[in-house]
Amino acid sequence: MKYLTGLQPSGKLHIGNYFGAIQNAIALQDKGEAFYFIANYHAMTTQPGADVLRANTYEMALDLLACGLDPEKAVFFAQSSVPEVNELAWVLSTVCPMGLLERCHSYKDKIAKGFSPNHALFAYPALMAADILLYDSDVVPVGKDQKQHLEVTRDLAGKINDAFGADTLKMPEALINEVTAIVPGLDGQKMSKSYGNTLPVFGEEKALRKLINKKVVTDATPLEAPKPTENSIILALYKLFATAEEYEEMVEAHKRGGVGYGQFKKDLFEAYWEYFRAAREKREWILAHPGYVDEVLRNGAERAREAAAKVLARVRKAVGLI
Ligand code: ADP
Ligand code: TRP
Repeated sequence: MKYLTGLQPSGKLHIGNYFGAIQNAIALQDKGEAFYFIANYHAMTTQPGADVLRANTYEMALDLLACGLDPEKAVFFAQSSVPEVNELAWVLSTVCPMGLLERCHSYKDKIAKGFSPNHALFAYPALMAADILLYDSDVVPVGKDQKQHLEVTRDLAGKINDAFGADTLKMPEALINEVTAIVPGLDGQKMSKSYGNTLPVFGEEKALRKLINKKVVTDATPLEAPKPTENSIILALYKLFATAEEYEEMVEAHKRGGVGYGQFKKDLFEAYWEYFRAAREKREWILAHPGYVDEVLRNGAERAREAAAKVLARVRKAVGLI
């Protein structure tokens, strides 16, 4: 079974990304062949600028490796290291109806957010389809927001196979992580970069302690009084990091009263800090070994290109390109 997914390098990794996408993808590297890449071509569609794009790509690679992505198990590379993907995107574009792209939510959402409606933003799903089809992927683990893009991918693969032969492209399946609840942000809305309510996976201890202490929203229940356990942001976040018993203890302490939110936030910080201890240490190790990330991505690119070349040769032959 071949698993493939892409992650956009768009700023600091937060715990919503971690529990919603990354943890799951990393677990799959033990289940089959895994191809993971940093979608830096896709990130260009919102024009981050060269320096930001370069820095974010590096930081995303660093963070994923720290979180446990194992380059011995998974083929890990930057999307732009396999420029062949653009050729497949072009081939797919020739069978892609405009209406299919016009219906995509992600395009409409980006325009609504004020991004300029450039061609790359519009063609984004065709490139994503090429990412997937270029490696004969079987299963694509993604968040719910990417479901429509997987439908476009299957649609395009079907059109190519109808026109040029049933074995030209492999039909992939989406693996939507339905069980992962939406991680709430520090203010209780969905955690998202665009809401400025994120808890980063990595950062400086003092600043993060302060972030939790100052920014996690609580009500005004006095210290002595029992505290509501419904819609508690502290409890929802604590649940991600604590054992079942620790979580139950905190629920009970809420119900009893006599413990203030300051203490609960302290417990939340400690659990969070402990949870990512190993990842933090790995990250320190990588930072102390300059060149490690580049080396990993270079090796990954080589393996990815080899796999891509085979599929692209098959496609070129099928569609009549010499
Ligand atoms: P952001 O909303 O911060 O811009 P992205 O859209 O870059 O985050 O998220 C990348 C992936 O991380 C998504 O496809 C989704 O699977 C996951 N994700 C992001 N935020 C959350 C969240 N609050 N809860 C669960 N999963 C999330
Ligand atoms: N569009 C995806 C996202 O924003 C990233 C992505 C690009 C991707 N190419 C992909 C995901 C191929 C899965 C497969 O999250």
